[in-house]
Amino acid sequence: DWTSEQFVEATVAELQQQLGNDKVVLGLSGGVDSSVAAMLIHQAIGKNLYCIFVDNGLLRKDEFESVLDSYKHMGLNVKGVDAKDRFYTALAGISDPEGKRKAIGRVFIEVFDDEAHQIEDVKWLAQGTIYPDVIESMSVKGPSATIKSHHNVGGLPDFMKLKVVEPLKALFKDEVRLVGKTLKIDDNILGRHPFPGPGLAIRILGDITPEKVQVLQQVDHIFISNLKKSGLYDEVWQAGAILTPVQSVGVMGDERTYENVVALRAVTSIDGMTADWSRLPYEFLADVSNEIINKVKGVNRVVYDISSKPPATIEWE
Ligand code: XMP
Repeated sequence: DWTSEQFVEATVAELQQQLGNDKVVLGLSGGVDSSVAAMLIHQAIGKNLYCIFVDNGLLRKDEFESVLDSYKHMGLNVKGVDAKDRFYTALAGISDPEGKRKAIGRVFIEVFDDEAHQIEDVKWLAQGTIYPDVIESMSVKGPSATIKSHHNVGGLPDFMKLKVVEPLKALFKDEVRLVGKTLKIDDNILGRHPFPGPGLAIRILGDITPEKVQVLQQVDHIFISNLKKSGLYDEVWQAGAILTPVQSVGVMGDERTYENVVALRAVTSIDGMTADWSRLPYEFLADVSNEIINKVKGVNRVVYDISSKPPATIEWE
């Protein structure tokens, strides 16, 4: 029978054998898979694992700082790279969802390649690929696929010539979480909802500006922190907010307002392939809606997405 303790023991030994004194580079995303892969390799080779965590300016509010802190507490050799402006510049004026994904994928590879070059004599690229990613390797979904699906843009970046090590390749998501528990990874990382690689860029319909990102970060933060406060966070599979380009009339005191509509989306799912909208309590939705409209400038209306997948996708783009 498979146990996470045995898996960790055997995999750490194999990694030591395989990697010896070589240097390894790994891109952390803040998500479960890359974090667990990093901790496994860290157990095997310590400081020879060089982790890179990129701030693409499309993460949740305060996410970059808090996740970077968790990684440092875990003892990882991690470098945080502020590349917000490079991403915003590349995204300027692009409204098409696939165009945004492509721009983000391209800049991520540029930034990662620059950083990998600063590690002298690095031999390996580690990835948090898990078994479902292997099966769906033709799909463009998933953080590891972000690299694969974009490596034909402008020729192969140098880091792609590295040997690849993928210690989670045979595991399902629930096994990855068990391994993470065995490795004593923070619950705030292990229990987190999936989050798309292109981040908030695919939850802002239309073109991306730093101002829109800030508005959506505030809305998302209110929604997610209330889910956590009410004990509902672990009951939904994924949750987030969408900033629509629709404006509608509202009233504030004696004044009429004309501001944006945001949508809240929360789903239950097993694997993201199908999903149902979460039956969040009306009182909870009422509180979140009031808080958003009272606190977030530029938003005067909140709607809740009651579409299931299929036919609707989880993300709006
Ligand atoms: P959809 O919207 O297709 O999403 O129902 C299913 C799951 O995939 C995530 N998703 C992405 N993840 N890059 C990613 O890394 C992407 O471009 C992307 N698009 C969707 C989505 O958040 C959900 O968990």
